[in-house]
Amino acid sequence: MVEITLPKNSRVKDGKVWDKPTDSGNFREFHVYRYDPDTAGNPAIDTYYVDTEDCGPMVLDALIWIKSNVDPGLTFRRSCREGVCGSCAMNIDGTNTLACTRAMEDVDGAVNIYPLPHLAVVKDLVPDLSNFYAQLQSIEPWLQTESPTPQAEWRQSPVEREKLDGYYECILCACCSTSCPSYWWNGDRYLGPAVLLQAYRWLIDSRDEGTGGRLDHLEDPFRLYRCHTIMNCAQTCPKGLNPAKAIAEIKKMMVERRV
Ligand code: SF4
Ligand code: SF4
Ligand code: FES
Repeated sequence: MVEITLPKNSRVKDGKVWDKPTDSGNFREFHVYRYDPDTAGNPAIDTYYVDTEDCGPMVLDALIWIKSNVDPGLTFRRSCREGVCGSCAMNIDGTNTLACTRAMEDVDGAVNIYPLPHLAVVKDLVPDLSNFYAQLQSIEPWLQTESPTPQAEWRQSPVEREKLDGYYECILCACCSTSCPSYWWNGDRYLGPAVLLQAYRWLIDSRDEGTGGRLDHLEDPFRLYRCHTIMNCAQTCPKGLNPAKAIAEIKKMMVERRV
């Protein structure tokens, strides 16, 4: 993924340098984006020193350590702390990823942490995902059927189920969408890689009978066709998924239904 350096006229300023732990010789330096909507001030980069002998190995452990020991005001999202819920997604060392699965030792030098890029910031490392979730809702990510509901369950063979591999694992962390230049510039109309991967996951579900309507919804110059195969999405996905492939497959389905 492209690394971005703040320009000299950036409104993000150097912030507070918090005290080093005095009782430890082992500390890591962290530079963390801070923004408080209540003070109306510019964002700033605060510097913290984390006692690595008193802290777990992951970047999320360090953020929790800072919040518990140094700065209770530091705000970030997290829940599962094991790469399942997607809520701790942020930009670490220039890459969108999950704080709970990114080890501190995999980052050279000071650990730079920003919120996911190109989204409005609610506070500190918490981005506003309202548009992202509205877009997810727009593709109706649930089973659509017309056949009579079976007595027990909607059945799927192992082979049909396997077709969902590489897609069902998405945890909707938004790392991919917020690394996509097309989504940066057209995020209001382009659905972006995460939501399109979800759309494909339902298009290829053997139990789903809403394929025609789903494709009709995506047949739009912006919703689907703004992907230019730049591949940032696949490079950054912390679950190793390939949204660009899903998007290419949807485009193929669009062509196939025309012939
Ligand atoms: S491949 Fe498409 S969706 Fe993925 S980053 Fe590039 S433009 Fe965005
Ligand atoms: S495809 Fe990967 S990066 Fe994108 S939302 Fe799903 S898990 Fe996150
Ligand atoms: S806390 Fe759930 S994915 Fe990181």
